[in-house]
Amino acid sequence: MKRVALAATAMMILVSIASTAQAQPPGGRGGMGVDAEAFKAPPLPVDDQEKKILAAMEEQRNGPRYRNVSTADGRLMRMLTETTGAKCVVEIGTSTGESAVWFALGLRKTGGHLYTHEIDPGRAKIAAENFKKAGVDELITIVLGDAHETVKRYKEPIDILFLDADKEGYIDYLDKLVPLIRPGGLIIAHNMSPRMADKKYVDAITKNPKLETSFLLMDGAGVGVTMKKR
Ligand SMILES: C[S@@+](CC[C@H](N)C(=O)[O-])C[C@H]1O[C@@H](n2cnc3c(N)ncnc32)[C@H](O)[C@@H]1O
Repeated sequence: MKRVALAATAMMILVSIASTAQAQPPGGRGGMGVDAEAFKAPPLPVDDQEKKILAAMEEQRNGPRYRNVSTADGRLMRMLTETTGAKCVVEIGTSTGESAVWFALGLRKTGGHLYTHEIDPGRAKIAAENFKKAGVDELITIVLGDAHETVKRYKEPIDILFLDADKEGYIDYLDKLVPLIRPGGLIIAHNMSPRMADKKYVDAITKNPKLETSFLLMDGAGVGVTMKKR
């Protein structure tokens, strides 16, 4: 009889623990843990100009697009531009201009300029229209042509270089432009996930003692952020 009572008490305790566990928020005890959706909150405009730019970007997403960065990647571009106070940003691979608009969000605060390179005249034309609609066209110069040739124009220091064109060409862009990256400046490379990255480029940014690299947002396309040490 005593044994039956003990078993019943143990059962009640187990049921009570199980129902307490179900009542916990996602992630664990003590109110910690956040639903995955909370990490996807959309960007919030700080002023009217930013509101206009974000609205134009939203419209852009419903129009013609070609392999543009994700919102998470774009946010990172804007943050790095603004936090480093970048004055000169060079982008290889404009496409229809989504990443460029993210850079412009930062550049309008730093007083800087973006030079963006595109080989396809059709995409460059769409990008130019998108920059006008967003009201950021004065912050951006589109350089049409094969960037392996057109990047030879640079002589001044570059604060941020963003690589987002032909993956096998990253190493050539790096070789040509790394001497111009200012000390403390950044080389950001898109599509750095193990499936997409070029081994030669990954070796170049991880085995050079003058560079420091961190790989971010690897659950998406993957972004390599490389700093040229001071
Ligand atoms: C992935 S898309 C760029 C996306 C863009 N950064 C964005 O997020 O909105 C790559 C672009 O690079 C361009 N491209 C490829 N090879 C190039 C080259 N050698 N010179 C200039 N642009 C090139 C392609 O035409 C394409 O539009």
